[in-house]
Amino acid sequence: MLKVIRNKLSILPRLGVHTLDWHVRYALGKTPSPMACGIYMTNDCNLRCEFCNIWRKKVRVTIERDKVLNLVRELGKAGCFYLSFAGGEPLLVPHLAETVAEAKVSGVGYTHVVTNGYALTRANVLRLSEAGLDEVSISIDGPAEIHNAKRGRDKAYERVVAGIKLFKSHAPHIKIVLNTILTFTSPCDCLHAVELAEKFDIHAKIQPYNCHPAFESDRSLARDDRKAESVDLKAAKRVVNALLSSSCVVNSDVFLKAVPDYLKTGRGQLFKDKPCIYGHHHVEIDESGKVFPCLEGMSWENGFDMSGGLKKLLASKEYRQAVANLKDCKGCERTMYICYYEPRISFPLWNLLRISK
Ligand SMILES: C[S@@+](CC[C@H](N)C(=O)[O-])C[C@H]1O[C@@H](n2cnc3c(N)ncnc32)[C@H](O)[C@@H]1O
Ligand code: SF4
Ligand code: SF4
Repeated sequence: MLKVIRNKLSILPRLGVHTLDWHVRYALGKTPSPMACGIYMTNDCNLRCEFCNIWRKKVRVTIERDKVLNLVRELGKAGCFYLSFAGGEPLLVPHLAETVAEAKVSGVGYTHVVTNGYALTRANVLRLSEAGLDEVSISIDGPAEIHNAKRGRDKAYERVVAGIKLFKSHAPHIKIVLNTILTFTSPCDCLHAVELAEKFDIHAKIQPYNCHPAFESDRSLARDDRKAESVDLKAAKRVVNALLSSSCVVNSDVFLKAVPDYLKTGRGQLFKDKPCIYGHHHVEIDESGKVFPCLEGMSWENGFDMSGGLKKLLASKEYRQAVANLKDCKGCERTMYICYYEPRISFPLWNLLRISK
């Protein structure tokens, strides 16, 4: 998230150099150089959220230690600046802190972990701090009763609040962001995360609800509440106005202003009929270590094997073709994932100028 990253003044010069280098390479039609990468460390999880399909995958897979350590070294060599670890629940992966540390020594400028907070302890906060983690996102979806019901565990809320306190007291240099889902049916719930963020002097990030892809032969899929009840658009607009006026919300104004249309139509409108170049600046890696220019665009299937090395893979004809094919992808019309939207708003930089008009 640009608004959080830019608070870390020490890394701004490096970010500037990376951004300039990416633009030159892109303009010259060279091999995609990933500015940023998301690694899904595992599909295992300690919660059972009603809106999520990841924990419903039948086979539990966690990325192997040697594989992911090698991968982050390659990402450092390939010039990746921003690396985010998610899942499933990344805190369940014993080699998470070691991987963050390896990424930092390999040259990755900024590391981020997104967690449900349930397994946070003083010990693992200290381990992440020593590893050099820059930012943690902790997910929270409303006041205690609502959050616990959505997340399927009684103490889920309590542990998020305890987790915020642990980071504040034992790792004050790590930026804390509260991730919250803005739902079609109850958009006001997300304001709770903003209130908490203001109270603790941290940040909040708003993620509109998306219907997750169904995996394998899942029977009990997350409910698609876009069809279940009608959307209260007036309430949603009030929520968006409140978000726009809060200084702790890290989403761009362009993103927030696009939310009501998404809620109204169930379709993301911001990039309608615009070519997608996400795969030129991002790369995603699933829990088996497969590489994707975009997971959503490739339906969590058909990832690439990187046993020959990441640089070689990114330069390969097949990978470049996959990036080119995604130019016409309509995935960002089906969904409104912040992890795709915000980078697409900012890259290339002239996009930002055009979209912000
Ligand atoms: C898949 S989770 C993985 C990390 C961790 N388990 C957690 O819950 O924070 C990453 C983020 O996606 C959000 N998320 C999960 N399901 C979603 C959905 N259907 N629509 C929008 N966001 C969702 C979560 O709330 C969380 O902030
Ligand atoms: S949203 Fe996160 S915590 Fe909830 S089930 Fe999915 S992966 Fe687990
Ligand atoms: S349009 Fe969206 S989902 Fe499709 S490739 Fe681009 S970023 Fe991914």
